Amino acid sequence: MKVTQHLSEIRSVRWRDPNATWGFVPTMGALHQGHISLIRRARDENDNVAVSIFINPIQFNDTDDFKAYPIVLDEDLDLLLKEKVDLVWTPLTADIYPPDYQTYVQVEKISKPLEGKTRPGHFKGVTTIVTILFNTFQPHRAYFGQKDAQQLLVIKQMTIDLKLNLEIVSCPTVREKDGLAISSRNRNLSEAARKQAVCLFEALSIAKININDGEQNAEKVKAAMKTYIHNFPLAKIDYISIADPSSLAEVESIAGHILISMAVYIEGIRLIDNMIIEV
Ligand code: PAJ
Repeated sequence: MKVTQHLSEIRSVRWRDPNATWGFVPTMGALHQGHISLIRRARDENDNVAVSIFINPIQFNDTDDFKAYPIVLDEDLDLLLKEKVDLVWTPLTADIYPPDYQTYVQVEKISKPLEGKTRPGHFKGVTTIVTILFNTFQPHRAYFGQKDAQQLLVIKQMTIDLKLNLEIVSCPTVREKDGLAISSRNRNLSEAARKQAVCLFEALSIAKININDGEQNAEKVKAAMKTYIHNFPLAKIDYISIADPSSLAEVESIAGHILISMAVYIEGIRLIDNMIIEV
């Protein structure tokens, strides 16, 4: 496994066999089973697998969140070695964003609602770094989690709009036994907060049951989810949305495919989760 921060080395490994296919998994490190599932899928579908680890400063709209982001590079490299990853790219911020850096990529409409509302500038940061990574590495396929449903949509849209020559592969959300979506941020939860963090998945499950029982009114489903979450004193809802999974426009009446997504602070730590439901 080659581990490097140097662009020139990245390019030389990438092109050592121009006929070999590369699957690419961009991450911010603090790797967990969610990331590993993407890496295994990439392993299955490509000759080679590359993983990037870079805590991208420009996608954090909150400096405290950036400072609190876990860094465990040695643990990450151990995991990646076990997964037989071919190349790990750990870029330096100074190389990615030198002092005179001034180019940004922004997807307009679908970056605006949900995460975009609470975290202004977040997706601009994501699409800018992902473009830099794609453009530098030129993978055949890149793997993203459904856990970050809006991020996946925004990156798919960007790939179409900019005519990028790669396939975006979406992978299902990996969960803990009790249903909590695995996230690097879960490491920062206190014991009490960890117990209450299950309320996101449970609220989504309640929505699913209500919809399967015939409820079509989106406001009523959202109200049931809110009432449930109010049972958890450490939880503070940021948003609950029931939207069209392609446009992210809120729906009033539930039919066809819908995306239920939510962000909830648990003792101040912001967690997100979602479920796509077909009626
Ligand atoms: P990060 O949060 O490290 O996530 C890297 C990838 O892992 C993303 O595609 C994310 O959706 C996926 N992932 C995280 N938790 C998952 C889970 N429980 N199940 C399945 N997949 C999961 O997302 C980012 O980093 C950054 O925004 C990045 C794309 C790297 C750009 O900086």
